[in-house]
Amino acid sequence: MANHILKGKKGIIFGALDEKSIAWKTAQQCYAEGAEIILTNAPIALRMGAINQLAKACGDAPVIGADVTSSEDIEKLLQQSMEHFNGKIDFILHSVGMSLNIRKAHHYTDLNYEFQHKTFDISAMSLHRVLQAAYKKDALNEWGSVVALTYIAAQRVFPDYNEMADAKALLESISRSFGYHYGVKKKGELYRPNQTKVDAVNDAWDKFDSKEVYDIFSEQWLKECHRVLKPTGMTDVWDETLQYLAEWKKEIPDLPEINFDIEAEQTFEEIKDLKPLVYRKIFENEELFQQIVLTIFPEKKVLKLLLNYFESKETSIYKTLSEKLKILIV
Ligand SMILES: NC(=O)c1ccc[n+]([C@@H]2O[C@H](COP(=O)([O-])OP(=O)(O)OC[C@H]3O[C@@H](n4cnc5c(N)ncnc54)[C@H](O)[C@@H]3O)[C@@H](O)[C@H]2O)c1
Repeated sequence: MANHILKGKKGIIFGALDEKSIAWKTAQQCYAEGAEIILTNAPIALRMGAINQLAKACGDAPVIGADVTSSEDIEKLLQQSMEHFNGKIDFILHSVGMSLNIRKAHHYTDLNYEFQHKTFDISAMSLHRVLQAAYKKDALNEWGSVVALTYIAAQRVFPDYNEMADAKALLESISRSFGYHYGVKKKGELYRPNQTKVDAVNDAWDKFDSKEVYDIFSEQWLKECHRVLKPTGMTDVWDETLQYLAEWKKEIPDLPEINFDIEAEQTFEEIKDLKPLVYRKIFENEELFQQIVLTIFPEKKVLKLLLNYFESKETSIYKTLSEKLKILIV
């Protein structure tokens, strides 16, 4: 049932060849949801004629031929689309893909590289071409979206997917990299296919005026790491932490106590499932236990809850932990 969630939205749909095409069904659904669409496909595909039926069923949507390997065609398509919509575009579906080596039955271990160029151009570089043209023309509305279709073979071995696996890996990389640049331009955000947000590196501390400044920064922080690391590469910051804590207590004695026993149950719930290895390291360092653990759990309420919890566990690591903790809190 349609809810008109795309009412007022304007989009370009690439790749509807026949009823089996993903783009075909998507176009029908977009139209049913209230979007205005433009259909596009390679001129040779348009000659088959089926797309005209779809256009008719989608409110007489314009059909514009464009070969995705031609920058000129893509620029014209965007220009004509903006003229037709009398403004910018809200969404683009890039539902395009084709492998010449698969068509000609070349095995992945026997590829024809001329064909492979073409495959990459149609199936992956075309996404860059569309994005670059849209970027230069500023053709997309704020919060607009561009969707391209990948396949799991971009990231896992699916031998029969042949060179398309490499094409899809390139397609994914382009979507990440161009997504970043478009995001910066439009102050938008970049999401992965699983809807987790991409947190690109753009903090002030991580920006450098030149490679030389970056080199100096890298050398300084590596030296600093070297100073605080043990020869094994493990951090050895406890000594420094203890020093700072002692200093802090001396210099600002009026600070309120950090007493995590006040909300003992809640604190216990939050920490009880830390890795046993973490507890083992803490319990083995008596100085750390006395000076830090007993400072933050002065009434030992949380520690007693932990002890009960460890005692209720069957595995030997928890038995060892409960024996150590029992000795430490008596
Ligand atoms: N069908 C699946 O199971 C599946 C799974 C994962 C990903 N995909 C991807 O979904 C997208 C659509 O696939 P589909 O299954 O609908 O197949 P499809 O063959 O119907 O769609 C591919 C479209 O690309 C168009 N195309 C090819 N060369 C072109 C060119 N030079 N210029 C412009 N258009 C060109 C074709 O005309 C066709 O319309 C592809 O990217 C495909 O890799 C499909």
